Amino acid sequence: MLDQLIIGFDKALRTVFANAHTVRPTPGQQLPEAELSEEEKRHAAALMRVNHCGEICAQALYQGQALMSKDEGIKRALESAAHEETEHLAWTERRIGELGGRKSLLNPVWYTGSLAIGMLAARFGDGVNLGFLAETERQVEAHLKSHLDRLPPQDLRSREIVEQMKTDEVAHAETAVRLGAVELPLPVKRAMKATSKVMTGVAYWV
Ligand SMILES: [Fe+2]
Ligand SMILES: [Fe+2]
Repeated sequence: MLDQLIIGFDKALRTVFANAHTVRPTPGQQLPEAELSEEEKRHAAALMRVNHCGEICAQALYQGQALMSKDEGIKRALESAAHEETEHLAWTERRIGELGGRKSLLNPVWYTGSLAIGMLAARFGDGVNLGFLAETERQVEAHLKSHLDRLPPQDLRSREIVEQMKTDEVAHAETAVRLGAVELPLPVKRAMKATSKVMTGVAYWV
């Protein structure tokens, strides 16, 4: 357990403070930079900051769940999803830089909170744990869809990243269902939505 905590702590520091790496090329990188006004640029960077912050939370959720799960198969699935989330982290980070924005100052806070939620969810057993994961991914998918409406239409480089992330999140939700996710009660789903609304609202500005 102590080893795992140390590995977990190291992962946490790297997620929050180091640059993430990606194996797949960043979607949209072959496209030319769009003509954006200062305001459009600021807005697009803020939306990508929200997405980056969401990926920090995803890392922490998966890490918390992987730490607590006793099933090796589930642990492996969580780790491979977490790997794709690292790529999402790298893509959004890069795009924020291109747009001249910065990452959320509160990332350590988001990370810690999500890690705790992930560990808590895992205590209710694998079915609930996976159900929580599936529901998170579905909510993220809906959220990314809303960003496609809000991003400047000509900002194809940001849009391609969001599109690919959305595709990946759908696959993560499907994996969780395949592994035995249970459907969460409606009040829990609502509470999750309310929590992520606070996070996304704050991360747009800070
Ligand atoms: Fe993601
Ligand atoms: Fe995901």
